[in-house]
Amino acid sequence: MTIRAVVKGIGHYLPERIVENAEFEARLDTSDEWIKARSGIERRHVAAEGQTTSDLATRAALAALADAGMQPDDLDAIILATSTADLTFPAAATMVQANLGMTRGFAFDVQAVCAGFVFALANANGMILSGQAKRVMVIGAETFSRLMDWTDRSTCVLFGDGAGALILEAGEGSGANTDRGVLSSDLNSDGRHRDLLYVDGGVSTGTTGHLRMQGREVFRHAVEKLAQTAHAALDKVGLTGGDVNWIVPHQANLRIITATAQRMQVPMERVVVTVQDHGNTSAASIPLALSVGRDRGQIKPGDLIVTEAIGGGLAWGAVVLRW
Ligand code: UT7
Repeated sequence: MTIRAVVKGIGHYLPERIVENAEFEARLDTSDEWIKARSGIERRHVAAEGQTTSDLATRAALAALADAGMQPDDLDAIILATSTADLTFPAAATMVQANLGMTRGFAFDVQAVCAGFVFALANANGMILSGQAKRVMVIGAETFSRLMDWTDRSTCVLFGDGAGALILEAGEGSGANTDRGVLSSDLNSDGRHRDLLYVDGGVSTGTTGHLRMQGREVFRHAVEKLAQTAHAALDKVGLTGGDVNWIVPHQANLRIITATAQRMQVPMERVVVTVQDHGNTSAASIPLALSVGRDRGQIKPGDLIVTEAIGGGLAWGAVVLRW
């Protein structure tokens, strides 16, 4: 008997306000055509004033609990992937824990920027396999709108806010790659590339700061590293692109998503794409895409899914799971 971390529920939340590309045309030297052609993004959701990352995460968490038919105290742990926690500390995950009325277990944040959800999922899987926890909620939630320099057309048109949550539960498997649950992961970082994508604020500056990105360079790394990490994770369990039902990629740029699918020899009909409606929501993008993909009827029980993401650090990785 092998322990597997099996998906029991999923949910998401997007803030009400939708910003279409046209809104940027009015105040920046940009166009709907440029944004769509270069990134695939058409609109994004933006949090209301005073609406924080833990607020979005709580809404997604409630949706996932309802989907799983569970109560907050059924959970042993909450792992929240975010780079936009409400405060420097405590962890936004503990705020979600309190918002849910969960009075047991533990909660903490994982910060690996856009790859955060993949890192959090791998951590949750490790905790379940080690017996540390039986039921873990993994959330990706972000309010990147608060990190934007709204005068910088090369970044502010790309990002959005949102949250997605997934509940994993320990289950029994056979040890074969036909088991449901998380099957493998591959995690990487290379801190030499910190200048390609970072926020120029924090404790050392006494400011929140703004996101700075050398987009073309990040793009280059993304196209190379995402297929590599996805293949590495698949290799560990004797699977290939041909076995994949759905790639659920980090939603940063449609051109990166397409190039990665091509390298994996997976047709675009088997890729969940939400970037047109959400923009880049950093660590929230994969759980959002998983939840939307399930709601659209794309993702079904038994499907083999590969998630892959890259972001600031650089940090990148992939998780293979069977839904
Ligand atoms: O989630 C974390 C990981 N992040 C990513 O994966 C993002 C990776 N990078 C990208 O997605 C793309 O590089 C971008 C969408 C950011 C940019 O696309 P690109 O095709 O790499 O464009 P570029 O940066 O090479 O810029 C091309 C031109 C430049 O003008 P010049 O130098 O050719 O005259 C930019 O100044 O486009 C200009 N430009 C814009 N023009 C209109 C940059 N931003 C805009 C804009 N509107 N919003």
